[in-house]
Amino acid sequence: MADKEYTDPERMEKIVSLCKRRGFIYQSAELYGGLNGCWDYGPLGVEVKRNLKDYWWRRNVQEREDIVGLDGSILTHQAVLTASGHVGGFSDPMCDCLLSKARLRADQIEPQSGTAYHYSGASEGEWTVERRFAVLLREGQNENKARKTARQYYAQFHHNKSLSPKTLELQGETTSQEENTTSFNPENGSLLTEAREFNLMFKTQMGASSSEDDPNAVAYLRPETAQSIFTQFKNVLDTSRMKVPFGIAQIGKAFRNEINPRNFTFRSREFEQMEIEYFCRPGDGLRLTDEWLENRLSFYEDIGLPREKLHVLDVPDGERAHYSEKTYDIEFDFPFGCQELEGVAYRTNYDLSKHQEHSGKPIEYFDETTKEKFIPHVVEPSAGCDRTVLALLCEAFDEEDVVDTKGKTETRTVMRLNPRIAPIKAAIFPLLKKNEDQVRISREIQEELGSFMHVFYDETGAVGRRYRRQDEVGTPFCITVDFETLGEEDPELKGTVTLRHRDSMEQERVAIADLLPRLLREIR
Ligand code: GAP
Repeated sequence: MADKEYTDPERMEKIVSLCKRRGFIYQSAELYGGLNGCWDYGPLGVEVKRNLKDYWWRRNVQEREDIVGLDGSILTHQAVLTASGHVGGFSDPMCDCLLSKARLRADQIEPQSGTAYHYSGASEGEWTVERRFAVLLREGQNENKARKTARQYYAQFHHNKSLSPKTLELQGETTSQEENTTSFNPENGSLLTEAREFNLMFKTQMGASSSEDDPNAVAYLRPETAQSIFTQFKNVLDTSRMKVPFGIAQIGKAFRNEINPRNFTFRSREFEQMEIEYFCRPGDGLRLTDEWLENRLSFYEDIGLPREKLHVLDVPDGERAHYSEKTYDIEFDFPFGCQELEGVAYRTNYDLSKHQEHSGKPIEYFDETTKEKFIPHVVEPSAGCDRTVLALLCEAFDEEDVVDTKGKTETRTVMRLNPRIAPIKAAIFPLLKKNEDQVRISREIQEELGSFMHVFYDETGAVGRRYRRQDEVGTPFCITVDFETLGEEDPELKGTVTLRHRDSMEQERVAIADLLPRLLREIR
């Protein structure tokens, strides 16, 4: 069984560095020091993301008769999110470090034990400050560390900002033994403020005449794509004539003012979700939740995440979202630990009922056959697009030792991305850029394949180096036009090219006329 606690920070560092170096993912506003929790996808990253979204859409909307799509607005009416419970309850407990002012998620602080040093204040000559402060020292740490930290804390209240904290006299030092406390910052031992609820939604003002106090001018950036599906349920039902069970799918941006964005794109403040609300009869909810779980696991396998690295957590009572009667989290072994990729939740008829109640408009479904009227229940597979891209990049990254044609061993970096996800499907090389016929044929192949897939033409450097550059960005196929293609070595090989496979590095001769159907089969 896989070790769910296993982490590999060195591997993660290499992945983050490759993502920047090769144009997959950049820090947003890096030029100005970076916008925390926001990321920009570069030329290759945007292709990976599009391939993932296109495949998800094809599998879940285009290839199914029972699911239709929606593209709702990001700006969301206050009343929608009040009804859904987000305005009142979409929050995380948060506390601040009294010394560094860092903001921490109170429920994610590791419990610590040790000796707490308490102070009532500090003085310097005539100047005094009276404030309670404390520092936690773990076993083996010197008591002077507590005093140094306390002096740094009190120095910030002194009018002389260049004063050395060493000159401060600490007041009322006492100690206490603490077991499994979460009241101190694990980074520096400083006391934290009491936890407060912090709403995670981004609020904004709408309209030219908007004023801070006008509740009608308030809108939110949606914290999940789901709510527009619920509020448009009746319109979709009336205009598409779907019959329960049926689903509405949506891919789009969501925004959460996460207290601690971290692990590269894993926890961001702006991210994309791929969600389905699958409406059903009340008695079918639990069965469909199990069915959707299996469906989603097989989806991940089909894009290149191995089953043994996917784990299912049956979220226990008390830990599920307020609307859910059953939730499975699909988790993946990232290099920073086993973490959630997707939630498959049975949301009952909570959301539709709430919107019916708050809007005062009927959202019931009438079953023509049984003549029954009811509010449909819903099963929601909710995947994170950015998290899935990250999982795919983490899984694909590989380094291996290979021996070159001169017998020298070198490290080959290769992104073993599934061909349907790879940003470039095929790279096309003339063996020699000075050979006009090779260049012409390469350009013809580029043009033919380019109408069906993303391809890349490269004529610079030795062909071995060109292969390596493509390996590093996950291109599954390289096509080389050489002297055989021109029929100069063996007339039988005229009109064929070398097709080189990224993972095995094996090469085969393929007729130019067979390239397109062959590649289309491989990347579908
Ligand atoms: N509509 C249900 C819902 O939003 P969720 O578990 O809060 O449920 C669903 O989010 C998925 O969205 C998560 O499994 C994750 O993949 C993605 N997600 C949530 N918060 C995220 C964040 N801050 N950064 C990146 N992805 C996030």
